[in-house]
Amino acid sequence: MKITEALVAEHAAFSAVLDQIERLLPELGSPAEVKRLASLVEGMLRSHGHSETNLAYVALDQALAHRGQLDRLYRDHQEIDVRFQRVRAAQDLREGQLLLRAAVLATREHFQSEERSVFPLIEEMLRDDALTELGEAWRQQRRVSVSQAQQDSTQGNVSEPQPALTLDTAGAG
Ligand SMILES: [Fe+2]
Ligand SMILES: [Fe+2]
Repeated sequence: MKITEALVAEHAAFSAVLDQIERLLPELGSPAEVKRLASLVEGMLRSHGHSETNLAYVALDQALAHRGQLDRLYRDHQEIDVRFQRVRAAQDLREGQLLLRAAVLATREHFQSEERSVFPLIEEMLRDDALTELGEAWRQQRRVSVSQAQQDSTQGNVSEPQPALTLDTAGAG
């Protein structure tokens, strides 16, 4: 599987979670519940965003004509981080609900923008075999993350985010 296909599949899985969150939002009873949901989404997006940032850097950094897309990706990721941080700072339930809804919408729009313009561009810039190799490295990394999280949960530890996938094996072409 190409890395871009893997990331799109992750978008689909995350979108299902975002749908659930939007459905649950009006029923939440306290700011603490809103913040817990926000943390869940933040955790879910973290390693996905790291993989994308590294991939886009490998594929687009050398191509000056496409630096705008790379900058846009960084900016979007930062903006989404800030939106979730704002949820954590919300003073009351209503404010938290509004901020979390806005963060969910921004995340959805970002997924669409990546699928429409960033991923096709990355597929143009990297060879198919490099994309597949990166997809395999991504899969291995996820497997390590999941088994580490399972191990930690059986030991009662809180799992730390895994280091970002290092995409140093790709060749442009
Ligand atoms: Fe992204
Ligand atoms: Fe993404």
